[in-house]
Amino acid sequence: MPEPIIRAKQLAYVRVEATDRAKAEKFLKEFGLQTVERTKDRTYLRGTDAQAPCYILSQGSGSVTTIAFEADSLEDLRKLAALPYVSDVETLDETSGGQVVRLTDPLGMTVEIVHGRQPLAAMDAAPSHAFNMDGRRERVGELPAVSYGPSHVRRLGHLVLESADPPLLYSWYHEHFGLTKSDAVVLPEGPPQMIFSRLDRGEDYVDHHVIGFQFALDEGTRVQHVAFEVGNLDDLMAGHEYLKRRKYKNVWGIGRHLLGGQIFDYWKSPFGLIHEHWTDTDLLNDQHQAGDCAIGKMRDYWGPEPTPAFLVSRWNFKVIKNLVRILKARSRTSA
Ligand SMILES: [Fe+2]
Repeated sequence: MPEPIIRAKQLAYVRVEATDRAKAEKFLKEFGLQTVERTKDRTYLRGTDAQAPCYILSQGSGSVTTIAFEADSLEDLRKLAALPYVSDVETLDETSGGQVVRLTDPLGMTVEIVHGRQPLAAMDAAPSHAFNMDGRRERVGELPAVSYGPSHVRRLGHLVLESADPPLLYSWYHEHFGLTKSDAVVLPEGPPQMIFSRLDRGEDYVDHHVIGFQFALDEGTRVQHVAFEVGNLDDLMAGHEYLKRRKYKNVWGIGRHLLGGQIFDYWKSPFGLIHEHWTDTDLLNDQHQAGDCAIGKMRDYWGPEPTPAFLVSRWNFKVIKNLVRILKARSRTSA
């Protein structure tokens, strides 16, 4: 593969349109994000980490309209702006400040690359405590530190971009921003079901995936879910109960993924986009050898099977065709 133009530093934010902005903002608050600014058209939300807002909400379609990465330098923005299909370097007209270039991926998603946004001060993260497990007695004479209420979202961690052509999108994100394959879920024939990609930060360890390029059963293109790191397992469990009691729809979890290793919990927002809480991800660096996992060998460490509401964003005849093909491949490769 060609040398990437830049190597993105981190996922910066997503711009999300909700069909009912007020209802969406209530969900996001109960999910564990915190509002930092509300303008006529947008709501800016953050996690507890010392970062600029990671979620920019507006009224509209009910989908993610923009994926944004942070670059290491202004020079990186200039490198991208030299391409004929990329905007000039512009000032980001938002409270965080900073510069931006904009481009569109091969299937129509807007991508913004930013630099120089002002980070917000860190906020109190989830309470935590030591454990009396594995034969160790480390929480002695102390109660567990757990707060009842929403999870404490720390940061935006990853998203899954689904389409009919995951390899095409992966190649494009690799060539432009240096995303590199961690693992893939493959079938004997046809496109891979999923290519997990991470940031390329050399010897520094990063999350197992920052974008998962997934085959869409309906062959549509969309961000299928956005995923946020929460404080710890207790924080995730407390947030799960909190959302359940408010009658939000849990679409998969709680479990621990095989690829990525994280403990996961997926919730459908009132506007349809799936939001994930996760904790305890695998961390990889440039020593990792990317591997392919046959679809029949894909089994999470523990947890339930995904619900249809997680797997299928929109029903059409292609969903049935692809489900049959994938189920056949699964049984052929499970032995
Ligand atoms: Fe995820």
